[in-house]
Amino acid sequence: MTQSTKTRSVVAGVGACLPEKRLTNADLARIVDTSDEWIFQRTGIRERHIAGEGETTSTLATEAARRALSAAGLAAEDIDLIVLATSTPDYTFPSTATQVQAALGITRGAAFDLQAVCSGFVFALATADKFLLSGSHKRALVIGAETFSRILDWKDRTTCVLFGDGAAAVVLEAREGAGSTADRGVLTTHLRSDGRHREKLYVDGGPSTTQTVGHLRMMGRDVFRHAVGMVTDVITDAFNATGFGPDDLDWFVPHQANERIIDASADKLHIAREKIVKTVSMHGNTSAASIPLALSVASADGRIKPGDLVMIEAMGGGFTWGSALIRW
Ligand code: ACO
Repeated sequence: MTQSTKTRSVVAGVGACLPEKRLTNADLARIVDTSDEWIFQRTGIRERHIAGEGETTSTLATEAARRALSAAGLAAEDIDLIVLATSTPDYTFPSTATQVQAALGITRGAAFDLQAVCSGFVFALATADKFLLSGSHKRALVIGAETFSRILDWKDRTTCVLFGDGAAAVVLEAREGAGSTADRGVLTTHLRSDGRHREKLYVDGGPSTTQTVGHLRMMGRDVFRHAVGMVTDVITDAFNATGFGPDDLDWFVPHQANERIIDASADKLHIAREKIVKTVSMHGNTSAASIPLALSVASADGRIKPGDLVMIEAMGGGFTWGSALIRW
């Protein structure tokens, strides 16, 4: 009997880049009326990195991309697609992806930004996966990169304590698999959006409205209320599509916004706490960068290994939310 093969988007390498400067909760308590105790108890965050002079979304993204290419043993010219998720681009246009493309010396293929706020990396991974599965492109850099510090209202203690800056990238390569869920690569992706929730998490400026960049505004309690239900829905979709369940997962790598949301989602889905990769204490919420940053930490320290089953999920402004199940 002949067996049919199937193209899969396989993770060939991952890399990250964090700004040098760290800002601890104690540092924040000198800027606004807050405390380490309040921030840590409510969110699990201890510190975050903040971009300094000369560091932008594209410089962080370029360095993360270089490190991912090095981990994959590939050169920049091997890449024919860059999908970069960000809500804090260097400029309104051209895209940050094209800035990264130029910095890497790539002159072929396509590069574009994608904006889904904190779900950006999941949306970018799903998009790149579909390009690779179509056969139109062979090797993609999927990047999540943010400098949220530059859209925060540093007088608003309800938001400025929650976010940080950083970038991380994965190299996805189209490879032939046997067509089963034992194949390495992206096994399934599930994306959702509901624009009715705009006012719960938004930036109060933009080119076509105020002609300013604006500041992040959030109704934290409302976001929290929706988050667990939305992420558990798309994780359940990924389980249903593949036949896997919580016990089959090796690692659960959620968007790192708040430790309480992470734990509540895992508990609701019966995912064992020891399978959760958490970096929120060190990075804060880095929006589209948070999942690839967590992936890079857990692959560098030897937790995530080739062949492991890894579930990623995120929820963010829009609202947008999504999941992807990856055989690493
Ligand atoms: N330090 C000290 N006190 C504070 C701070 C602070 N930094 N911020 C708020 N408070 C006070 C409030 O003023 C309030 O005081 P009051 O009772 O006298 O009015 C009290 O703390 C409680 O405030 P709540 O907002 O009710 O606190 P809550 O327990 O809901 O925690 C938090 C707030 C951490 C923001 C929580 O709601 C949360 O994590 N929500 C989800 C946010 C999230 O995940 N966002 C990311 C989404 S992804 C994206 O797309 C960006």
